[in-house]
Amino acid sequence: MSNKFINKIICGDALKTLSMLESKSIDLVLTDPPYFLDKMDNGWDVKKVANITDYCHTIKSLPPGMKFDKEQGKKFYDWYYKIAKEILRVLKPGGFFFSFSSPRLYHRMVSAIDDAGFLIRDCFIWLYTQNQPKAMSLNHFIDKLNEDKKSRDNLKKQLHGWKTPQIKSCFEPIVMAQKETEGTFLKNFRKYNVGLLNTHVKIGQEMFPSNVVSTDTINQVVDKCFLISKPDKKEKGNFNLHRTVKPLSLCEYIISLTTYSQEAIVLDPFTGSGTTLVAAKNLGRKFIGIDINKEYIEIAKRRIKSLEADYPMYDAVAEERQLKIFERPVKYKRLGKGKLMKTA
Ligand SMILES: C[S@@+](CC[C@H](N)C(=O)[O-])C[C@H]1O[C@@H](n2cnc3c(N)ncnc32)[C@H](O)[C@@H]1O
Repeated sequence: MSNKFINKIICGDALKTLSMLESKSIDLVLTDPPYFLDKMDNGWDVKKVANITDYCHTIKSLPPGMKFDKEQGKKFYDWYYKIAKEILRVLKPGGFFFSFSSPRLYHRMVSAIDDAGFLIRDCFIWLYTQNQPKAMSLNHFIDKLNEDKKSRDNLKKQLHGWKTPQIKSCFEPIVMAQKETEGTFLKNFRKYNVGLLNTHVKIGQEMFPSNVVSTDTINQVVDKCFLISKPDKKEKGNFNLHRTVKPLSLCEYIISLTTYSQEAIVLDPFTGSGTTLVAAKNLGRKFIGIDINKEYIEIAKRRIKSLEADYPMYDAVAEERQLKIFERPVKYKRLGKGKLMKTA
């Protein structure tokens, strides 16, 4: 891969920019694409998206995800199929492609990735307990009926508690797709350093890595099996206005599971505020980011820069994490400013 792209964020349309990257050069693609919900398509406009703040207060401007338009899924499929084709080209044989989605558009995303030529290996679930329920009461519509007050009040009573079909959403699906290996897993790994999962990476209380991941403390059993560290309030940066920032520990978990060498290149074609890149850098990996919006790129650059002041420490941490891969698990405590301290 040409050095001009390494550890850089490129401002541009993902499809066009991906075509500039070398074939078979990337170890892992970890991304969170636009979901094609209202105002959040591949032309994602920062200002419009920043203004989607009201949930359930007004009927005219529905919050993202509430307008049910079958065309959204079809448009997403057509566009993501082309993106996935490019991702397949730039990945090394055996390289993994992890892509976040929403429960109601996941099927379109996975079909696009499958049809583009990937093997669909698994579905990860990011489990959480806090979210804004989007189901709406019909009282607003009942009030507008041309019926007398008594009949409207009766109808309201009859439908008390019955709301539109949007249950509280408490997970995000993440597909784990893989580019076909060249020959056996062993032959492929020896040539490209990708294609296997690092089962020394632990989750919960020293548990074998799983496809369910939680960043909320839920209860003893769930925490024991699935908890990865909670997002630190500071990890996002108080200057970060991006609406859909992912937890750093989740990105670190996926990068640690799938990338073997410190030379590994992690690509995020929809970088947003740069969580994937910060995670890659924390783990001593190389990265390439792409985003269509300059504003978000500035935020991502600022987050990455904030790691640089302490860079020697981060290098040391990355080195120790490498050891963890081969020897025994090491636990880290997050200290704020994205700093990590080894605790065991
Ligand atoms: C869901 S967000 C990613 C958030 C990121 N994971 C984070 O933690 O900050 C998707 C990003 O895709 C970008 N985007 C939308 N359309 C794009 C396109 N055609 N090419 C490149 N980036 C695009 C948006 O600007 C947005 O920042």
